[in-house]
Parts: sequence; structure tokens; C-alpha cells
Amino acid sequence: MSSIGHAAEVLKAGGLVAFPTETVYGLGADATNPKAVARIYEVKGRPSNHPLIVHLASVDALESWATQIPDYAHWLAAKFWPGPMALVLRRTSAAGDFITGGQDTVALRIPDHPTALELLGRFQDLGGIGVAAPSANRFGRVSPTSRSHVASELAAYLDRSDVILGGVSPNVGIESTIIDCTGELPVILRPGFITDEMVAEVTGLSLAQPFDSPRVSGSMKSHYAPKAAVHLNQVPLAGDGFIALAEVETPEGVIRLCAPATVGEYAASLYSALRRADDLGISRIVAFTPDGGGLALAIRDRLEKASHR
Ligand code: TXA
Ligand code: MG
Repeated sequence: MSSIGHAAEVLKAGGLVAFPTETVYGLGADATNPKAVARIYEVKGRPSNHPLIVHLASVDALESWATQIPDYAHWLAAKFWPGPMALVLRRTSAAGDFITGGQDTVALRIPDHPTALELLGRFQDLGGIGVAAPSANRFGRVSPTSRSHVASELAAYLDRSDVILGGVSPNVGIESTIIDCTGELPVILRPGFITDEMVAEVTGLSLAQPFDSPRVSGSMKSHYAPKAAVHLNQVPLAGDGFIALAEVETPEGVIRLCAPATVGEYAASLYSALRRADDLGISRIVAFTPDGGGLALAIRDRLEKASHR
């Protein structure tokens, strides 16, 4: 059997499978199995009232999980799935309190990654309807963008029968845009690659953006944090790690962690750069944040949380 086929069976049997997506690696469990989902919280060290995103193989599974779906959510799904977007919708009885943190809504996403899609498809062939998967990091830490990040961070907490799949590296590099679709207008709860302009264009609706919703764990102030202290838009000193667009030169004695040519490359390389600083034993990182809306805004959101102590 292929390793992905085996991983689908592990999920169906109640085990955990870490897998790549186009955003970051997820730590998956059968979203209808409370014991399996409880292990996600244990392995992550995450408070159990924090809701999880359920990952689906195709839009056919949408109505198993969600009800009273507004038209604009169907349009977003048709346009951006598979892709780096999670929709928060009214839940059906399939979405237990252990997935939603007791809320009457559920977050759903179809990832755009060959390994993730094959895993979800094979899980569905075995009778599964959805895979709960938070980012595969310990609570509050930097999301993983490679198999080795997951292995080094979670191996000590996983069982021998759990699986860590590898695959094509995430090309987006930061977590999905989360859009609350329970009201008349869409609300972006977590900014990401799918921007407010894209949402407005597809839905024809204007939208509000409260990023400080306490329901989203990534919106707690300190999050996505490496061990090193992160400082934004200051002059880096000798021995500091440094993250900035390629056009910015590296000052003497400063350790360049990444030099992305574009905002897209910035997002894709940010988390591995933060982790590299920890691997190198660097105690201070200076990041120059990119200007502008869209993905640049999502990068600033993550860096501000990483810098909060
Ligand atoms: O890109 C991603 O979304 C990645 C990959 C693995 O798919 N997953 C991810 O999961 O970032 P996680 O658990 O690290 O972040 C999910 C966020 C949390 O902040 C959680 O609070 C929010 O989604 N969330 C989940 N269900 C929700 C709901 N019903 N209402 C509001 N927020 C919800
Ligand atoms: Mg996370």
C-alpha cells in the first residue's frame, strides 16, 4: 500500500497524521472521532476550547458539516477551493463540540496540495467525512512548513503508529484566510493569501475586518513565536538575525535569515527563517515588515504576533 493509503487507514483507525498543505503542515485526525481529536490537543498542548478547521476532500462533503450556507459562501468556495481559505459556517450535528469548542459554527477548508488531497480522498473512500487539522506545531509556536519541522517539534509527543507525511513544500507558507460566513456580510477573522479585495470581488459585498476576535487562537497576542525575541522595523545589530525583502542590504555582522524577492516569497520563507534563527541559537531577530495590503498585511499580522511578548 502507498504511504498515503496507509496514512488514511491510520486516520480512520483513530491515529494522527501530519501532512503538508499549500499553507503549512497540519496535524490531522478523524473529525468525527472525539478520542482522536483529543489527541491533537494533547500533542499540541493546545487549550481544548480552541476550535479546529475540518479539511474536506471536495465540496460534496460541505453539507455534511454546514447548514444555512449563504450564497456568497458558495461563491467563495467555488472560486477559491481547493485553496488557502477556511470558511466559518453554521454547523450540522456532524460537528461536535470537541471540534467547534462548543460554538454553533464550524470552520471548513479544502487544501490545494496533492498529498493533502490524496490523503483526504482516500480517507473519504474509507467512509471518512472530514479531517480536523490545526497547524502541526506546539501551541503558540511557529507553524511548520517542512516535514523536518514537524518531526523535530512533535516526534516526542506522537505515538509510533502515527504518521508524518512529506511532500511538495507549502508554496503559500502562512495559514489560510479564515472568513466568517455566518452573517449577512463576510468577515475576515485571519488574513492570508486570499485577500479582502479578492473576497469583495467574488461576493460583490463590502466586508469588515476585526482581526481581534477572541475565537481565533491565532489572534491571541503572542503567537507564531520563535524562541528568539522578534523586533520589527528596528536597526539590526551585529549578531541579530535579519528578515527583509532582497532589496534591503544586510548590515555588517548581521545574520541574514532570508532575502525574499517578492511579498509572496516573503510569506513562503518567513516561518522557516524564524525557525532557522532558533536552530542557529540567535537570541534576537529583526524583521522589516512589507508595506501594502493583501498578503503583506497577512505577513505583518503574523510578525506582530511573533513579536509580542
Ligand atoms: O492554513 C491553515 O488553515 C492550516 C492548515 C493545516 O490547514 N491550519 C491552521 O489551523 O492554521 P490552526 O488550528 O492552527 O488555526 C485554525 C484557526 C484557529 O485560530 C481557530 O481558532 C480558528 O481557526 N477557528 C476554527 N474554528 C473556528 C470557528 N468555528 N469560528 C472561528 N474561528 C475558528
Ligand atoms: Mg496554528
